[in-house]
Amino acid sequence: KELGHDIQSEEAGKPLKRKFRSAQWFSRDTAESGLASLYADRYMNFGFTKEELTSGKPIIGIAQTGSDIAPCNRHHIQIAKRVKQGIIQAGGVPMEFPMHPIQESSRRPTATLDRNLAYLGVVEVLHSYPLDGVVLLTGCDKTTPALLMAAATVNLPSICLNVGPMLNGRRKGTLIGTGTIMWRARELKAEGAIDDDEFFDMVTAGSPSVGHCNTMGTASSMNAMAEALGMALPGSASIPAAYRERMQYAYRTGQQIVEMVHQDRKPSEILTRKAFENAIVTNTAIGGSSNCPIHLIAIARHMGVDLDMDDWDRLGFHIPLLVNVQPAGEMLCEDYYHAGSLPAVMAELLDANKLHPETLTCNGRTTGENVKGKHSWDRNTIRAYDKPMKKNAGFIHLKGTLFDSAIMKTSVISEQFRKAFLEDPEHPNSFTCRVRVFDGPEHYEETVDNDDSNPDDKVVLVMRGAGPIGYPGAPEVVNMRAPKKFLQAGVRSLPCIGDGRQSGTSGSPSILHVSPEAAIGGNLAILKDGDMVKFDLDKRGVDLLLSDEEIKSRRASIMTEKMKQLTVESHTPWQEIFRNEATQLNEGMVLKTAVKYQRIID
Ligand code: FES
Ligand code: MG
Repeated sequence: KELGHDIQSEEAGKPLKRKFRSAQWFSRDTAESGLASLYADRYMNFGFTKEELTSGKPIIGIAQTGSDIAPCNRHHIQIAKRVKQGIIQAGGVPMEFPMHPIQESSRRPTATLDRNLAYLGVVEVLHSYPLDGVVLLTGCDKTTPALLMAAATVNLPSICLNVGPMLNGRRKGTLIGTGTIMWRARELKAEGAIDDDEFFDMVTAGSPSVGHCNTMGTASSMNAMAEALGMALPGSASIPAAYRERMQYAYRTGQQIVEMVHQDRKPSEILTRKAFENAIVTNTAIGGSSNCPIHLIAIARHMGVDLDMDDWDRLGFHIPLLVNVQPAGEMLCEDYYHAGSLPAVMAELLDANKLHPETLTCNGRTTGENVKGKHSWDRNTIRAYDKPMKKNAGFIHLKGTLFDSAIMKTSVISEQFRKAFLEDPEHPNSFTCRVRVFDGPEHYEETVDNDDSNPDDKVVLVMRGAGPIGYPGAPEVVNMRAPKKFLQAGVRSLPCIGDGRQSGTSGSPSILHVSPEAAIGGNLAILKDGDMVKFDLDKRGVDLLLSDEEIKSRRASIMTEKMKQLTVESHTPWQEIFRNEATQLNEGMVLKTAVKYQRIID
C-alpha cells in the first residue's frame, strides 16, 4: 500500500513516512476505512480520478469567502484558481468550499454577528470532512478573525491568503480612502457644504477596483496581524488585489500549505503567546484598527493562549506609529505596499529589539529570518523607528467607576483634540466633561443636532446600548460626529465613549468597548445628560463625578428599567443564540461554549 509520501524531516534529517488524515476516508486498505469507494465516488463525479483521491496525496481545503454578496472578498473566486494550481504543483489535491458570507459594509445589524457564526461553520467543515490542511481566503474585516479562530480551534495545518486592498482611490487630485472618506463626507454634509450627489460621488471614489478597504481599517490591519502572527507568507498581506503579485502569492500559498501538511506544521506551533506579543507591537506600528484587540483576544482564547487588554497597553502603548497610512496618516495601502509593507515595518521593530525573532511562521522560517534587513526605501510612508509619525501610539486600557474596561486608540488623536482636551498645563492628559447620552444609534441619529450646548463647552458624547448583548454583535457606532452647531464653529473633535465599537477606518480617538456594557448592568446605564466625567489618560482612569451614595441610589432605582430599555429585540434565531453565548468585548466576544473545545483534531 502506498499511502504516505517519503519526505525529509528537517529536524531529524531522516525520511519520515506520513499518512494523512484524509486516509480515514479515502484509504483502500480495509483496516483503515474500507469504504474509499463510498467516499470517493461523489468526488469523482465531477472529475477527480481514483489516483488523486486514494493514493495518499494530501487533500487541501480552500475556504472561499467571496461571493456576490461579499464583494470585498469576491476577487477570491479568481484567486482560488491560482491557489489550486499551486496545491496541485506541490502534489496536493485542492477542494474549495464556501464559508458563510461576511460583508462588513452591508450586513445588518453588524457583520460581527457573522464572525462567530462563520467561525462555527468553518470549525464543522474542518473537523468533519477529509481535509489535511486548509487555505483561509481572508479579506474583509471579520473574515480574517473568523477563519483564524476556526484554525485555532481545530488545529489543522492552515495558511491565510488575503484578497488584498483596492487600488488607491482618487478624486480631483486627492487620495480618497475607503471608510475614512465616509466620516469626512458625513461631516461636510451635516455642515451643509455638500449635497447628496456630491456625497455619493465622494464616497464611491474610494473604491476604484476589486479588493478590500484601501485604508488601514480592520481588513488591512487584521491581515497584517495574520502575517505578523506567522499565519500568512511574509509580504503577502498588503499586495493590492489587482496586482499580478497577488496571483503569484496565491500560487506560492498553495505550494506552501502542501509543505506545511507534510511537516504537520499546525496553528498551535505558530500561534504562541510570543507570536501574539509580536502582533500587538506590530499593530501599534501600523496604526492598526481598534477592532484588532477584540479579534486577537478571540483567536488567543480559541488557541488556549492567555491574552487580555492589559497586554495591549503594557506591550503596545509605548511603541511608535511608523506607518503613514489613513486614518492615522495620509497615504493608502497601494503606497504602503510599494514602500515594503509589513516586512519593512517589522524590520524596524526587529532592529529596535521589540519583536521575538524566534517565533515560527507558516513557511518554516522564523519571524526574524523573514523580515531582517527588509527596510523601506520610502521614508514618508514607512518611517524609521527613531523618526516615527508619533511616539507612544498604542492603545491605552482604561478603568474606573464608569466601567471595568475600555480602550482608546491614541495614534488617531488629532492636534485639535490634543489642544482642546489634553494640553491643560496644570492637568496634562486629563480633562473633565459634561456628558450627552444617546440610547443607541437610532436615538443619536434623531437627536444629535438638537443641542443646547455651546461649541466652547467641554462635552463628551456617550453611546450606550451598543454592546454585544444590548445590540447583538456590538455595532460600529461609537465614532459619532459632533453636533451641527459644533461643526459649523469648526469643532470636529469631541470625545466619544461607548459600549460598542467603531470602524477601523475612523480617525476618532474614541473610548470604545466599554465593558460591562449598559444592557448587562454597567454604569453607563445610570448616566444622565449633564453628569460630569473625569478622564485621566496617564492614570488610565475614567470616573463618574457622583458620590458613592448617588451611584448606589441610581443603580437601585433606574438600573433594571434602563437595562431593559437598552436591549433591542432579537430578530433572528442566531441573534438570540449569540446573546446567550457571547462574552463582553474585552474578552473577545467569543462564544462561551466554543472556547471549551480546543485543538480538536490534535
Ligand atoms: Fe470590506 Fe472594508 S468593508 S474591507
Ligand atoms: Mg468595520
